[in-house]
Amino acid sequence: MEFSKRDRLRLLGGAAAGVIAACSGGGGGSSPLPPPPPPPPPPPPPPPPPPPPPPPPPVSAVLREVYAPNFLVGAAIQRSQIATATADRPIIAGQFSSITAEFEMKPDIIAPTEGAYDWSRPDALVDWAEANGIAVRGHALLWHSTTPTWFLTGTREEIRTKLQRYVTDVVTRYAGRIYAWDVVNEPTSDSAGGTAPYRDSGWYQAVGSDYIDWAFEAARAADPACKLFINDYNTELSGKRARYLEIISGMIARGVPFDGVGHQFHLQINANVADSLAAIDAVDALGAGLENHATEIDVSVYSDPGDCFGSGINCAAGYGSNPANVPASVYAAQARIFRGLFNGFLQRPSVTSVTVWGINDRQSWLNNFPIRRDNYPLMFDPDRQPKAAFRAVVDPDYAI
Ligand code: XIL
Repeated sequence: MEFSKRDRLRLLGGAAAGVIAACSGGGGGSSPLPPPPPPPPPPPPPPPPPPPPPPPPPVSAVLREVYAPNFLVGAAIQRSQIATATADRPIIAGQFSSITAEFEMKPDIIAPTEGAYDWSRPDALVDWAEANGIAVRGHALLWHSTTPTWFLTGTREEIRTKLQRYVTDVVTRYAGRIYAWDVVNEPTSDSAGGTAPYRDSGWYQAVGSDYIDWAFEAARAADPACKLFINDYNTELSGKRARYLEIISGMIARGVPFDGVGHQFHLQINANVADSLAAIDAVDALGAGLENHATEIDVSVYSDPGDCFGSGINCAAGYGSNPANVPASVYAAQARIFRGLFNGFLQRPSVTSVTVWGINDRQSWLNNFPIRRDNYPLMFDPDRQPKAAFRAVVDPDYAI
């Protein structure tokens, strides 16, 4: 049926009139009101929210076993993590084949004052590790950052004597119980010029670079079977690496007794794994048969510029205290770095020990360095749940 324009107007007008009549009904007219229309049916319930993703499958693989044919897998720990039945303790005992004292074997803890040693903390760590079948990596005999002032006073000969006595006493105490010592930690300068390749440390200022040789010689004499390491950070950066290698090459040339090179590998989320592996390859290329240890791995979820580390400025904004605030893509990138490192180490027989610098994110030193800011750089989250990084290194089939 066709409607003319006029028909349509008339029909519309009638409908409008009806609406007006209905609206004005009840105004006292004589005709009875029609019953109110039934209420509209309630809207359909919203669709149920999608089910939460299934929890990740429990991790059955064991880190120490996965890599046992190739290298020890270690973690830096504090005595408080094992002294009582903490949630960290089963992770340490269950997953790792090596521990490093995060700070309790440093000189300011063992010998805060001259002539008086406090062995309580290192003893507790070594005893617990032995009782649990875990090897101990010693860290660190000499480190500029934890050298009590008494070490560096007096004549050159007096300082040398104090150094030799300290190294001898500590290494002797744990002879046969510690498989490797970081004898000198962080001796390399961060830039060229000045005292490069040596760090302008209190040790360097007191006696020049000779303290390095003295320390290694004393350590070798105290425990000839212990592997002796030099250790430093930023070896993944070409400039720092070149200066480190200069120090190492000098040690080789002088016949200084040592066995290996430590790479801390405190990395950032924008790290290129190839740079870290190049540091291992550079040591191998010296042809001196040196071992390599990855000694302090963590992967900051931030990528900070150098001035953040130097003076705490221009640091990336923090994600806050809720680990869920960190984008999944960041955890995935972190997992890829961990996996890339471990895979690269597998392919390099000179790598004999690989240590991460802590167990769970809540306890990482990076929560306070270079500024106070929550960081999530390790393989277990603040609640000690395995992160993508852990799954990535224990399970080659885990998809990132
Ligand atoms: C850090 C520890 O994690 C902190 O607990 C301590 O207060 C300071 O030292 N390079 C090293 C480690 O060789 O000894 C440092 O460990 C981190 C940087």
